[in-house]
Amino acid sequence: MKIYSAILGIALVAVCVRSAISEDEIRENTAKGLRLLSLEEGVEPVWKTEDEKLDLLRAHIRFFDVTEVYDASTPIAAPALFAPLVAYSPPSHQTQVNGIIANISLTNMQSYLGSLTAFNNRYYRSQTGVDATNWIVKTVGDATVKAFAHSWVQSSIIARIPGTTNGPVTILGAHMDSINLSNPTSGRAPGADDDGSGSVNLIEAFRALLAAGFRPTTPVEFHWYSAEEAGLLGSQAIAKSYKSAGTQVKAMMELDMTAYVRPGTTEVIGLMPDYVDAGLNTFLGQIITAYSRLPFVTSPKCGYACSDHASWYNQGYPTSLPFEARYGDDNPTIHSSSDTTAVNGFSWSHTLEYTKIAVAFAYELGI
Ligand SMILES: *[C@@H]1O[C@H](CO)[C@@H](O)[C@H](O)[C@H]1NC(C)=O
Ligand SMILES: *[C@@H]1O[C@H](CO)[C@@H](O)[C@H](O)[C@H]1NC(C)=O
Ligand SMILES: [Zn+2]
Repeated sequence: MKIYSAILGIALVAVCVRSAISEDEIRENTAKGLRLLSLEEGVEPVWKTEDEKLDLLRAHIRFFDVTEVYDASTPIAAPALFAPLVAYSPPSHQTQVNGIIANISLTNMQSYLGSLTAFNNRYYRSQTGVDATNWIVKTVGDATVKAFAHSWVQSSIIARIPGTTNGPVTILGAHMDSINLSNPTSGRAPGADDDGSGSVNLIEAFRALLAAGFRPTTPVEFHWYSAEEAGLLGSQAIAKSYKSAGTQVKAMMELDMTAYVRPGTTEVIGLMPDYVDAGLNTFLGQIITAYSRLPFVTSPKCGYACSDHASWYNQGYPTSLPFEARYGDDNPTIHSSSDTTAVNGFSWSHTLEYTKIAVAFAYELGI
């Protein structure tokens, strides 16, 4: 009995205390070109070469590359740490929001996506990836837009609409990088759906809000992340920096793949159920009901390290992700040269709905 409880005690300690990876180990292994990957919730990350990392991506195994953000005290995908800062109240500014939605231009969206897909790829370590970032900065083109630099060449982008007060910030995110899995550095990766679509939703929503003179009470930010396809590098760096600075976040919504409707299926918006905040998802459903022609459904789970929202979730912030379909009915051509607007199932009228949702989400939470 005594021995038994001693063993039990040791087992509990082993479960509760994460063996820290030292800063020295991280420095030495990083210098050797190794990357530290978190492959599973609650399990200590492991070292992999860049080639092994690519093999994982090709095998459709998702992970956080935590090489630059590892911190023994930060749980990897523990449940959200903060209670929501506000109770989300149902949408109540229909007249104003519908006025801004009426100004959303599909022609603009088509033009933006034409430009984004024209870059050979938007890989986070390629010059065309850098050029794509510069193009978004120029297109969003407002004094409040700034690049968030990383240790790799492609910056992320943050466009901020200041609030009349310094309250908690509302964040809308998408990832602007793309990848050709057989040839990341120079292979063709138009990334029309993944995630040109979400990137364009945010560019047009931002434009329409500014054109309407939107002046929120609390700040609203639009983020275009670098290196999502390389283990959520850009969003993790930014989420960690917000957490370190003590920045409060009212809500974070990621748009990643919003333009594909599988032929033969009913058109829906799939609310991702995992690594999200339940209260925020309820609010998002109300937004969709109030402002979109589409119904929403709860999607099957997307799994660990699915998209940038998970980087914010890991830092304890409330997140949500309205997806193009039920997970499993999504675009099969991503991460290849075939992810173009010519895909059977690519739908402009479908992705237009996510621009409306972005406008409404920003307005209803910011005002
Ligand atoms: C709609 O957008 C155009 C072009 O940016 C702008 O000139 C116009 O003022 C906007 N209208 C409204 C109602 O926001
Ligand atoms: C990657 O890019 C090359 C060169 O553009 C292309 O031939 C190849 O088909 C692409 N790979 C995939 C999986 O699309
Ligand atoms: Zn992707």
